Amino acid sequence: MRLNSEVDGMVRKGFYIATMGCQMNEYDSDFLAHTLISYGYQPVSSPGNADIVFINTCTVREKADQKAVSLLGRMVRLKARRPGMVLGVMGCLAQREGKRLFHRFPQLDMVVGPRELPNIHSMLDAVLCQKKKLIATHLDLPPLNRSKIHQIQERKVSAYVSIMQGCDNFCTYCIVPYVRGREISRPPHDIIEEARFLIRQGVKEITLLGQNVNSYLWDDHTGSYDFVSLLQKFKDVEGLVRLRFTTSHPKDLSEDLMFCFQDLNMLCPHIHLPFQAGSNEVLRRMKRGYSREQYIALVERLREVVPNIAITSDVMVGFPGESAKDFEETLDLMEKIGFDSLFSFKYSDREGTVAAHMGHKISEEEKSRRLDRLQSLQKDMTLRKNRFLEGKQVSILAEGQSKKGGQMTGRTDTNKIVNFSSDTNKIGTIVKVTIKSAFVHSLRGEPVR
Ligand code: SAH
Ligand code: SF4
Ligand code: F3S
Repeated sequence: MRLNSEVDGMVRKGFYIATMGCQMNEYDSDFLAHTLISYGYQPVSSPGNADIVFINTCTVREKADQKAVSLLGRMVRLKARRPGMVLGVMGCLAQREGKRLFHRFPQLDMVVGPRELPNIHSMLDAVLCQKKKLIATHLDLPPLNRSKIHQIQERKVSAYVSIMQGCDNFCTYCIVPYVRGREISRPPHDIIEEARFLIRQGVKEITLLGQNVNSYLWDDHTGSYDFVSLLQKFKDVEGLVRLRFTTSHPKDLSEDLMFCFQDLNMLCPHIHLPFQAGSNEVLRRMKRGYSREQYIALVERLREVVPNIAITSDVMVGFPGESAKDFEETLDLMEKIGFDSLFSFKYSDREGTVAAHMGHKISEEEKSRRLDRLQSLQKDMTLRKNRFLEGKQVSILAEGQSKKGGQMTGRTDTNKIVNFSSDTNKIGTIVKVTIKSAFVHSLRGEPVR
């Protein structure tokens, strides 16, 4: 590592990474941060003090593009005042736009797609030592293996571990398969090694990541693993307090997976199970591979097997051709299921996807009206669910100081945020708390004496 020795003995240079988008991007940014630290750089809290700035972008909706481009514009202006600064764009927008980004922002030094991250060492060499500009957007590369990283700076209670990359589902609205490439699973021993490594660093809770974790598949001389057998392997991981996973595709959720919630005590009773729409006609045109009846039956079965399970989901409004009646069916499905919480979005055309070419687009005003109605319904339902917990005792994994002064924050096993006061530092431990009051986004509790 040439740069290490160059930097040793000097004032350490700083880096700043701005992360947008989903947990995959957070995971990737974390990897980049560790790589930069191993190069002798140190994290700084503002891009204005950084020698290297990276923006890890998302492109799932038009709004995400706008956010990324606006930040990029700000960073380019910053670079004009700090000529030595290295500016890189990574993530899904970098993958999609590739060299078009260089044309638009000639000040950029690096454009790196998500699948190129395993090569980041040599790329940094080229950019930092040889002062080259670089673009790397191959999609047919193997997944990142971070189990070899040997230092963690900050002490974390909760961490992500990616188990697979890419997606083969090609839902008609979605850009992810185009920017994250084909589905590929990581070897189970790498995953377990990374989990053990994180636990040695103090991590108590691990969330397994993939666009569709239920289609995890690994086959080699050591054996053949699906998602359920991968989860079973965590039984041997000592010191792990909580295990979670996200995201599950309804079409691939098996009975065996449901029974894992009974079988593995550290597996938290929460599932994120995006339904996207409540109308069969819309689901068909989205190419989701299930009907509303199948989704409802799946949730019923899940609740039979795991009665206390919390169910969260993603939904969008204004898919091309979504009629008023289709939309009512979405609201109706929400009422039938009673989600613990919901991420809801206005459909947005993504260039190159099938839905972008569909007719009968819904106006922005109508999308906004539908989204408002949907969100206000969900707000009431979330609040009702949270209020149900008032007076009850729950177990919280304490994660840190709450933003509200003097309080600690953590989550229930069902993934609800609870703030509570404590005179001792409880970070990393399970605390029993009585819920005193419930809000839409969080709960407030008192530790049980
Ligand atoms: N792999 C996950 C979702 C990844 S994208 C899954 O299949 O559930 C996260 C969410 O963004 C999706 O669930 C969907 O609700 C939303 N989304 C994806 N493409 C979109 C688009 N073109 N417009 C609006 N929302 C979109
Ligand atoms: Fe996109 Fe569908 Fe794949 Fe999820 S499953 S990432 S929504 S294509
Ligand atoms: Fe966005 Fe890419 Fe994640 S498009 S949602 S950052 S996979």
